[in-house]
Amino acid sequence: MISKKVEEAIVNQIKNEEHSSRIYMAMASWCETKGYRGAADFLYKQSDEERMHMLKFIKYLNDRGGYAILSALEVPASKYKSLLDVFKHVMSHEEFITDSINKLYEVALKEKDYTTGSFLQWYINEQIEEESTVHGILDKMNLVGEDKAGMFHIDKELETMAAAKVVAPIA
Ligand code: FEO
Repeated sequence: MISKKVEEAIVNQIKNEEHSSRIYMAMASWCETKGYRGAADFLYKQSDEERMHMLKFIKYLNDRGGYAILSALEVPASKYKSLLDVFKHVMSHEEFITDSINKLYEVALKEKDYTTGSFLQWYINEQIEEESTVHGILDKMNLVGEDKAGMFHIDKELETMAAAKVVAPIA
């Protein structure tokens, strides 16, 4: 049986993952209306991925004898200055998520819940991967700066990245 503290921390992380999914969906919608089709595809996929992250936590918590409940969520932002601005927000959000996963990991270890600790390894690795992907995108955007043709190419690249992204169903 999972401890109350770990249960509460996972419920909080379920909220964070669901919120991530909605933030990326809102960003995808913005990109779509601004003509950034590739970025929109990428962020819609990212939104699906976050939903899978949420679902993985829900199933895990219920399997361990806890109860995964959903929480009220903030309305995501709907206005961005530029595509660069969108991805800067993605970066800071992913950093926030990494931090929240690390805090959850600390709670699990404090509670001597090593099963949850080992379950969280998957998320820790996933965060390394996500942060590095977004860093790569931001580096390219910073290189092209205000150059519209450069941004167009990045958008095309995001389209390719989105097509290659497989949102794996939870095991
Ligand atoms: Fe589920 Fe991108 O954090």
